[in-house]
Amino acid sequence: MSNKPVICVAIDGPAASGKSTVARGAAKKLNFNYVDSGSFYRGLTWKCLRDGIEISNHEAVLALLATAQWDLSLCDGQVVYSIDGDQPGEQLKSKPVQERVSEIAAIPEVRAFIVEKLRETAMFGSLVMEGRDIGTVVFPDTPHKFYLDADPEERARRRFKELEKSGAYDDAQQVLTSLQKRDQKDSTRKTAPLQIALGAKVIDSTSMDAAAVIELVIKQVTSAQP
Ligand code: CDP
Repeated sequence: MSNKPVICVAIDGPAASGKSTVARGAAKKLNFNYVDSGSFYRGLTWKCLRDGIEISNHEAVLALLATAQWDLSLCDGQVVYSIDGDQPGEQLKSKPVQERVSEIAAIPEVRAFIVEKLRETAMFGSLVMEGRDIGTVVFPDTPHKFYLDADPEERARRRFKELEKSGAYDDAQQVLTSLQKRDQKDSTRKTAPLQIALGAKVIDSTSMDAAAVIELVIKQVTSAQP
């Protein structure tokens, strides 16, 4: 076991603001692990939909949470999980999951459970974690906090490009409507709403490419290290 302190880099921001590309790229360059916190909320949503649990029935969701077995592991520098032995993979991006995930993520008990799971991922070593509440709730004491943003139209354009092949959405306008609904839910929920963490560096990536944003993050993290 190494005695090196574990460093947590928090990258928060609204849907499709480029967090995944930047967090993944920065983790690779820093030789840290990458953690996609949204995939945990999506995973639970997928599991409920697959098992026929009505998401608006919070008691049923919590009953599932109480019995489901989550296992964390490291795969190619990314912390991944399985629920009851299943790894949902590409299904996490499906439209039904996309449309319901914010509802699940607004349940306080779900958040408390997943925040604990996310903190456990630090057992694998230093990490870059992306999400909505990483700098505010999951790792509030980290000095490495970023808030990534971009104009809604640009975010919708990027996400449509990503999802185009799946055929889930007809055009960027449809994606924009879906992102705006999710942003609204995520920013106004009572527990851990999306907000800029105290001390976070805000980056507007509307007219920046991912490489430039990654560079900015790396520079900031490495210059802050003793
Ligand atoms: O990739 P994108 O930003 O569209 O979404 P994501 O990061 O996979 O997150 C999906 C949803 O999970 C968000 O819209 C939030 O409702 C929820 N989430 C959250 O509440 N807290 C987090 N730390 C991460 C995701």
